[in-house]
Amino acid sequence: MPNTLTTSYLKDSIFKPGLFEGKVAFITGGAGTICRVQAEALVLLGANVAIVGRSPEKTEKAAKEIQELRSGSKVLGLGNVDVREVKNVQQAVEKTVKELGKIDFVIAGAAGNFLSDFNHLSSRAFKTVIDIDLIGSYNTAKATFEQLRQNKGHIIFITATLHYYGLPMQSHASAAKAGVDALARSLAIELGPSGVRSNLIAPGPIENTEGFERLLPPDTIERALKNIPLQRTGTTQDIADTTVFLFSNASSYITGETIVVDGGQWQTGSTMSIAGLYPEVIVAQNEDKPKI
Ligand code: COA
Repeated sequence: MPNTLTTSYLKDSIFKPGLFEGKVAFITGGAGTICRVQAEALVLLGANVAIVGRSPEKTEKAAKEIQELRSGSKVLGLGNVDVREVKNVQQAVEKTVKELGKIDFVIAGAAGNFLSDFNHLSSRAFKTVIDIDLIGSYNTAKATFEQLRQNKGHIIFITATLHYYGLPMQSHASAAKAGVDALARSLAIELGPSGVRSNLIAPGPIENTEGFERLLPPDTIERALKNIPLQRTGTTQDIADTTVFLFSNASSYITGETIVVDGGQWQTGSTMSIAGLYPEVIVAQNEDKPKI
């Protein structure tokens, strides 16, 4: 399955062309593998989009490529934006409103993760992931709120299923994503009366993504796949389709909810490869001098 969408999406998907005509989306992490395909689906279906990221080259290149998917579309690539700094995000929002007129849809997708056992996870490393995933999501909601309120918009947070159970090597990301879930649900309650929806998408193992490569070493993939009830990895299009459903009116009575897109993986318990090696691998790590 290719990692990007083409115009055949308009023919093959159940969604109608022009569904998002006149809408504008703001996507953090929009040059990354998952959020880029979310941007592509929205553009193909008529929206204009701003993608923001840390690397100017990667972000601008992705924006150019996405813009080519639909003639007449506008796709802004805003680099040098670190979601850990609310001012950075605010500036990106201002540029988006100036160039594209407004913001209706927001995806808080920027994230950072790696495998590390607790003993080797420094305090700075833990804080880094909390800062990117949780504070970054807050900053994205904060900086876009005025636009969301004005346009009765919708924010989708990208979360995970890591924290649904205790998972080794993921204390940092699990804590961050648990916070993101709580944030999104509180915002659904607070912003609902102003016409703003707040939902979450929790991707499972999505093939050809940075997360997949970082979290599932090649020698563990076969074993991990057996623990997915639908017996396949997810695709970026699976996430894009869920995004389109959520931003469309078909979900207009849904807020404060998480849609888990993982082939049923989390229901089978702690399926990460390391779980099969538990506890020996972790016990060995615990013997080292703690990294502070
Ligand atoms: N294991 C343990 N600690 C790690 C680590 C790993 N694999 N990778 C980074 N760290 C630690 C660093 O050692 C540092 O802590 P220290 O100074 O106490 O040693 C801390 O994390 C910050 O690292 P740094 O590289 O300075 O952070 P950064 O802000 O430049 O990058 C990351 C953030 C670490 C999350 C980086 O991996 C990143 O930019 N990721 C973005 C993309 C991504 O992760 N996508 C996957 C989504 S699933």
